[in-house]
Amino acid sequence: MTRYIVVLSGKGGVGKTTTAVNIGASLNDIGQKVVVIDANIITPNVALQLGLPPRPNNNLNGALKQDYSIFDAVSRHSSGLDVIPAGLSIFGAKNGFSGSMRDALSPLEEKYEIVIMDCGIGLWGSDIKTLNAADEVLIVTNPELPALIDSLKALKMAEKMSVPVRGIILNKVTGSSYELKDETVKGILNNYPIIAKIPFDKNVSKSLGARNPIVLNKPNSPAAHAFKRLAGDLVGEKYKTNIFWKTVNKFRGVS
Ligand SMILES: Nc1ncnc2c1ncn2[C@@H]1O[C@H](COP(=O)(O)OP(=O)(O)OP(=O)(O)O)[C@@H](O)[C@H]1O
Ligand SMILES: [Mg+2]
Repeated sequence: MTRYIVVLSGKGGVGKTTTAVNIGASLNDIGQKVVVIDANIITPNVALQLGLPPRPNNNLNGALKQDYSIFDAVSRHSSGLDVIPAGLSIFGAKNGFSGSMRDALSPLEEKYEIVIMDCGIGLWGSDIKTLNAADEVLIVTNPELPALIDSLKALKMAEKMSVPVRGIILNKVTGSSYELKDETVKGILNNYPIIAKIPFDKNVSKSLGARNPIVLNKPNSPAAHAFKRLAGDLVGEKYKTNIFWKTVNKFRGVS
């Protein structure tokens, strides 16, 4: 059965798209049939992060309105990762889709085992429709109070809609003394487990510049290791690395 995983935050800019794209690229790399959907309809940037050409047509918005098949909206990254970009126009985004997102996406189940949806902040409008389509939610946040408080709202929205929250992805972790500790993070976020800690890593921005996910562009960087481990955990496959990188990561404190 196809799994629909929604990546949600509460606050903007915490790393949802980076997470969705890198989990997608990692799963694609280990042979999973995966598609990443840009469901952040108001401020989409999955295609931008991957350097895919803008698509005024053949995008998620048009497919939801049944202007064409959802398969016509699929773009392929050079790595082989399939992506469904959102439309470009904010006015188009508001137009004409009142149905169930899950029903509209269901033809994808013929082809894909995992559907990853990069959501907005998750508190209203199209984000609620996206949340409704989810089998599970990953909450991305940063170890800072404003991000945590906003993600608590997103978490409560998921709870209210009875969508299981798989756990918290703590992104841009520096390990500095003034950063909030894991126990504090869990305390604020209703004791949901922290399922990944992704280090702050300048290779993320470098990879953004290269229009290639960090797991492909800088596969041995600290954040790439953390994303690959997280992706493996999501599908029950232990992330394998050699003894050299195991030792380096231990030294770097990458979990
Ligand atoms: N682990 C990280 N280390 C360093 N920079 C990061 C990391 N994760 C994300 N970033 C940077 O943070 C910025 C925001 O990331 P991203 O676009 O993924 O966030 P977002 O939550 O999807 O934002 P939005 O709410 O606008 O959709 C980008 O410039 C990205 O390169
Ligand atoms: Mg984003």
